[in-house]
Amino acid sequence: MHTVLKSILRFFVSSALILTALTSFHAFAETPAQTTSPNGDIIVTVADENGRASYSISYKGETVLASSRLGLIFEDQHGFDRDLAIASVETSAKDETWEQPWGERRLVRDNHNEMLVTFASVAGPERRMNVRFRVFNDGVGFRYEIPKQRRLGKVNIIDELTEFAVDEQSTTWWIPTRGWNRYEYLYETSAASEVSNAHTPITFKTPEGVHLSVHEAALVDYSGMSLKQHRPGRFKADLSPWSDGVLVKTKTPFVTPWRTIQIAPDAVGLLNSDLILNLNEPNKLGDVSWVEPGKYVGIWWAMHIRDRSWGNDTIHGATTEETKRYIDFAAKYGFMGVLVEGWNIGWDGDWFNNGELFRFAETYPDFDIEAIGVYAREKGVRLIGHHETSGDVTNYENQLDEALDLYESVGVRAVKTGYVADGGLIERIDDNGIKKYEWHDGQFMVEHHLRVVTEAAKRKVAVNPHEPVKDTGLRRTYPNWVAREGARGQEYNAWGIPPNPPEHTTILPYTRMLSGPMDFTPGIFDLEPNKRLPLRKDMPRGDPVSRVQTTLAKQLALYVVLYSPIQMAADLPENYEKNLEAFQYIVDVPTDWEDSIALAGEVGDHVVFARKDRNTEDWYIGAITDEVARQLSVPLSFLDENRAYVAQVYRDGANADWDIRPYDMIIEERAVTSDTILELPLAPGGGAAVRFFPAAQNDGQ
Ligand code: NOJ
Ligand code: CA
Repeated sequence: MHTVLKSILRFFVSSALILTALTSFHAFAETPAQTTSPNGDIIVTVADENGRASYSISYKGETVLASSRLGLIFEDQHGFDRDLAIASVETSAKDETWEQPWGERRLVRDNHNEMLVTFASVAGPERRMNVRFRVFNDGVGFRYEIPKQRRLGKVNIIDELTEFAVDEQSTTWWIPTRGWNRYEYLYETSAASEVSNAHTPITFKTPEGVHLSVHEAALVDYSGMSLKQHRPGRFKADLSPWSDGVLVKTKTPFVTPWRTIQIAPDAVGLLNSDLILNLNEPNKLGDVSWVEPGKYVGIWWAMHIRDRSWGNDTIHGATTEETKRYIDFAAKYGFMGVLVEGWNIGWDGDWFNNGELFRFAETYPDFDIEAIGVYAREKGVRLIGHHETSGDVTNYENQLDEALDLYESVGVRAVKTGYVADGGLIERIDDNGIKKYEWHDGQFMVEHHLRVVTEAAKRKVAVNPHEPVKDTGLRRTYPNWVAREGARGQEYNAWGIPPNPPEHTTILPYTRMLSGPMDFTPGIFDLEPNKRLPLRKDMPRGDPVSRVQTTLAKQLALYVVLYSPIQMAADLPENYEKNLEAFQYIVDVPTDWEDSIALAGEVGDHVVFARKDRNTEDWYIGAITDEVARQLSVPLSFLDENRAYVAQVYRDGANADWDIRPYDMIIEERAVTSDTILELPLAPGGGAAVRFFPAAQNDGQ
């Protein structure tokens, strides 16, 4: 009896112990929580010291992000800033390959380890916050996932505490945020400690040479994140506020966009990363075979160099006759489309400030949209639509259905939208009829852009916004979101003071382009369209008068360097017809790729890309430099082994220089194989563009 009692007692005690152990496992998981990248180089550590959620990242044994805060603060409700403990940690792993309908590569590998960390409150009301981490070999993404819970339904986020604590001595490439010109600034190169507030992607090179890019992925139902430096090297999420000061209006359950940190041992490592796409949801549109990558020309540059006007005056650009001329040109050289700007009512007078005057389904009398649609189709070309809103978004949304219906009816498959606005703010009329001003990257515009994209998709129309919200990889989910502007493009070379300096396009690949395709509009052949500055040796270098500060060969190289599934040949048809030899490269270069490899480069100095055509065995190279001449030796090991290729090389001539002899260009053919090391001399502000095709293909031609 005595022994029986004892063993019963023992049973209860041990059960109680087991129970206690289980409970403590749930309430306080072992901390800090850790996970690594599949190759083990990256380690993410998540902690709850002093009740505060934080994370840190090391790369190859060195700290690249010191302990950085996590958390959210809500208006009038308890948030997730203190009294938190890690309650549980779940881990999983994935290694899958998925296919892009179009893109810089067809197959994308998604290989990551995942860690879902649940923070629970240890004081105050019961609350739970999940933070999901995905750790790839090329970086880290994490997002907040706030489940539905008691006393937390509708929430206004008034602060996001996320930090990114980098080495303050890192060299940093960045553009300022909250400026009237949105993303259209020249990049600054400075120590991290010199940065004020910056847009993402922002790129850091640590004193050890590790390259980091901080950005976000899948920006939906939330405000765009930029960064504010509040201690040297310590950057904090700075969400674009609504006009009433709230940062994000949402309700549980909700997830935030992914906060991303791409990590690479060198500059080109950032260019070969697919992390942003991997963190987006798969295609939600189903069959998207109607999304057509391709090249286009347009009634566009003529307005920027003031030969023509958008408005209905004596030099009106968008006439039926002029459009047919462009359609003929596009058809002759195998281009997919013709963009026409200034065809609809509203451009007369001060269109920058008169957004409410735009009529998106009413043409000027000299533009017969139906006849043009028919003419284009007969020629195998498509009209590309244009909607400039001048930032008056309510006026545009009120007409969105009829505007898109009209384009659908005339066979348009892509629309360029625009949001220029004096002061950079977007106008909307709220439900009470009151005018409000919103940021271009706040939650209101994040929602607006997605509305346009999904409405357009219903009509099999692709969208290319200018003055957009930044790209966060949503093209994976909505493959009709083909490109956007979102940086200083070619247009600045027509009227920008200063125009884009030679280094601009050597910074873009490592910053803006990490977010996704850009409608930069390369291919200017008349490099001095304003004719204000003769190409004279005695002019001071770097004079701020607007002109294109590149060599001709560099204009060709940009088609390969600056990826977009739609690429404009931006110059006037007559300028191309004056130099058909060079134009041949633009005719040949594809815009949809089987694969892309960044071969060499340094941020702000140079870059070399190789890309393989998706539809043939051809490869292409684009190489560009800043204002410094360079001799590049490019191993062609990406070519098929044991196959002979012909390389058609378009390169700077011996005396080329963007400033005084930009047209000095050599076009030559060479026999090459995968063993060849191709020598490419790049002039100051220069570049090289190469097409490779299998030699056999040339037989008998
Ligand atoms: C600015 C755009 O970037 C440019 O391409 C367009 O021509 C003008 N807005 C007018 O819509
Ligand atoms: Ca613009």
